[in-house]
Amino acid sequence: MTRPPGRWLQRELRRRLMLPVLAIVVISVVVSAFNAHALVERIFDRWLLDAAHSLGSQVRFQGGQASVQLSPQSESVLTYDVVDRIFYEVLQDGRHVAGQPGLPQLGRKATRYRHNSEAFDASYGGIDVRVGRVQVQGPHGDSAVVLVAETRTKRELALRAQVLVFAPVAILAVVAWLVVSSAVRRTLRPLRRMAQAWNDGSHTSLEPMATQDVPRELMPFAVALNDLLARVRELLLRERHFAATAAHQLRTPLAGLQLGLARAAACPDLASTRAALDELASSTQRAARMVQQLLALSRVDPAARGAIEMVDVDLVALAREVGEAYMDAAQARHTTLELDAGEQPVHVQGQPSLLSEALGNLIDNALRYTPPGGRVTISVRPEPPALGVADSGPGIAADETDKVFDRFVRGRGMTGEGSGLGLAIVKEITALHRAEIVLGRSEELGGLAVTLRFPAA
Ligand SMILES: Nc1ncnc2c1ncn2[C@@H]1O[C@H](COP(=O)(O)OP(=O)(O)O)[C@@H](O)[C@H]1O
Ligand SMILES: [Mg+2]
Repeated sequence: MTRPPGRWLQRELRRRLMLPVLAIVVISVVVSAFNAHALVERIFDRWLLDAAHSLGSQVRFQGGQASVQLSPQSESVLTYDVVDRIFYEVLQDGRHVAGQPGLPQLGRKATRYRHNSEAFDASYGGIDVRVGRVQVQGPHGDSAVVLVAETRTKRELALRAQVLVFAPVAILAVVAWLVVSSAVRRTLRPLRRMAQAWNDGSHTSLEPMATQDVPRELMPFAVALNDLLARVRELLLRERHFAATAAHQLRTPLAGLQLGLARAAACPDLASTRAALDELASSTQRAARMVQQLLALSRVDPAARGAIEMVDVDLVALAREVGEAYMDAAQARHTTLELDAGEQPVHVQGQPSLLSEALGNLIDNALRYTPPGGRVTISVRPEPPALGVADSGPGIAADETDKVFDRFVRGRGMTGEGSGLGLAIVKEITALHRAEIVLGRSEELGGLAVTLRFPAA
């Protein structure tokens, strides 16, 4: 299976949840390590200063002279320790009185305690020691200093034991990771299930998907997808219907062609063959026109609308150009084709080739349904912009005015050439331009008047 591109929601969620958890774990480990260290130092400092105080209580002042009388038992009690070595010294005004001489009197990381005492780190004879220092007051303002020092082994051991405290924290972090991972996976499971269901479903049908199991956050997607499916379904149905009708409609001219060909083949002489071929030529033209109209319709299909580019179009110039193209056809029917427009251009936003197609269909109808010798007028009006075609023909019966815009619908009793697509094309193109179609009776000419009214520029 290839990995789909893009981000993994699951990974991102896990990362976003785990980073804070890990940060909390690390911070709490650092803070508790710091606290534990301070606590260990404090506890052992107390013991050290207790020893110094009890030694201080043995100091005697006689005539301003400090002295210490320690029995061997007391001394061994004072200096006994299983793991560390202990040293002591008593001084008066910087002068050695008792104990091991030369213990440091100052050092680093000093901590002050009550009763004139403090503890600090120092080095004695090349060994790292912690020293407790106590000031002892005599009865007549005399004073002495008691120092007790011990190596740091106990303290180091105690600090190392902290690992035992942090091991559970590490385990907790791992557990948190597992919990977060599984929670994220479970939360995202409906998403995956939905995607799967939709994937499976959309392969086989365009039916809407069931939404009862969809989580609320995903509901907008589900609704949007179902909407899309509905639109696709509708479009497909329309297309299918259109294709079926078009195929059906094309069958008639094709059958005519076949028949004409057979007749031409059976003609006994050149003259009748030529007549049959002429007929064939005109039915070929009809079929070609129908195909062209079908193409025009598919071009203005609602699905393709977004792709159509609107430009500035001068309706007067457009009417003149299209009208000229129909001059020959009008002459052939002895019909007068005129343009009724002012000197000024009339601008609308539109697609020139589609507008020409619409106008062409209107002129074609007017010429086709107006009896020979009649009149057809193309008119352009500026306010609001309007384009119209009027003729002196029979017009459209009131009960037919709605239906004639449907595809493949022709007026009652229309047996001549025609596919019923012309006005449908005009309707689609008009809608595309947000214009309005008005069907009516021409006051001047008496026949049909079709007007396209465009939104004011
Ligand atoms: N200028 C017109 N005068 C009278 N009837 C018309 C005119 N234009 C259209 N019609 C009626 O409207 C119907 C539909 O027109 P159209 O969609 O162009 O199809 P077609 O021209 O192929 O019949 C025509 O069959 C005809 O009955
Ligand atoms: Mg027509």
